[in-house]
Amino acid sequence: MSEQWRAVAKVGAVKPGDVIPVTVDGLELALGLDGERYFAVQRRCVHRGGDLTEGIVSRGHIICPNHAWRFSTATGRHADASEYCLATYSVRVVGDTIEIDPQLKEST
Ligand code: FES
Repeated sequence: MSEQWRAVAKVGAVKPGDVIPVTVDGLELALGLDGERYFAVQRRCVHRGGDLTEGIVSRGHIICPNHAWRFSTATGRHADASEYCLATYSVRVVGDTIEIDPQLKEST
């Protein structure tokens, strides 16, 4: 399937360690900056729906604010129980604009 990039924010709208809510084609996502790498995952935690935009980004993981489950910002997988996985989306920067492809990313 071909890529379908959507502009979602300007560079600078997300500081390192931040996570902000964005909506792309009706999908509610959490857009974050992990070090120098942007990532996008489903906004609601697969456990009990915690809002991951209120979570913490730490060393390659996003930590849910509700019960502290940790998910890889790269793959969406739970750090200890890989059967739990967030949907992840590709992110790129074009000029000063952050774009997301709303198609599900292939698992790695
Ligand atoms: S709702 Fe996210 S860890 Fe429980």
